[in-house]
Amino acid sequence: MENILMSICVAIFLAVGLSVVVLYPAFSARSEHKRLSKSTAENAAVQTTEKRCYTAEEVSKHNSEKSVWLIIKDKIYDVTEYLNEHPGGESMLNNAGGENTKGFYGPQHPRWAYERLEDFYIGDLKQ
Ligand code: HEM
Repeated sequence: MENILMSICVAIFLAVGLSVVVLYPAFSARSEHKRLSKSTAENAAVQTTEKRCYTAEEVSKHNSEKSVWLIIKDKIYDVTEYLNEHPGGESMLNNAGGENTKGFYGPQHPRWAYERLEDFYIGDLKQ
């Protein structure tokens, strides 16, 4: 009887010991990971808000086929890569580096063009 009690005590002792040695580091690693990913995401948000604001003067430099930026509804789009794909050809260059809201929201564009435009969003116009 004493032997059985002794074995049970040893088993409980081992189980508690193992949980502390194996489970605790695993859990703390997980929460550390969560903490780090959160702070990385927060940092990224701070960086993006700082980066994503351009003055009209800055945008106006992107006015050739080498770099085409457009201002549409106070947002900036870098459509350089889309130039060769654009069904309307080089008409995108007409006012490159400048205001294109009226030009873009013309009757020539199907609805999907509005969604496609968002792929090229790089920031906002500094007011
Ligand atoms: C990422 C932005 C843009 C997308 C996705 C896009 C998409 C398109 C598409 C799909 C068409 C052909 C429509 C059709 O065949 O019925 C088109 C035509 C045209 N686009 Fe764009 N476009 C963009 C930007 C612009 C901009 C900024 C301008 C000028 C301000 C412009 C001017 C035109 C013109 C004038 C046509 C008509 C061409 C013609 O009929 O010969 N587009 N565009």
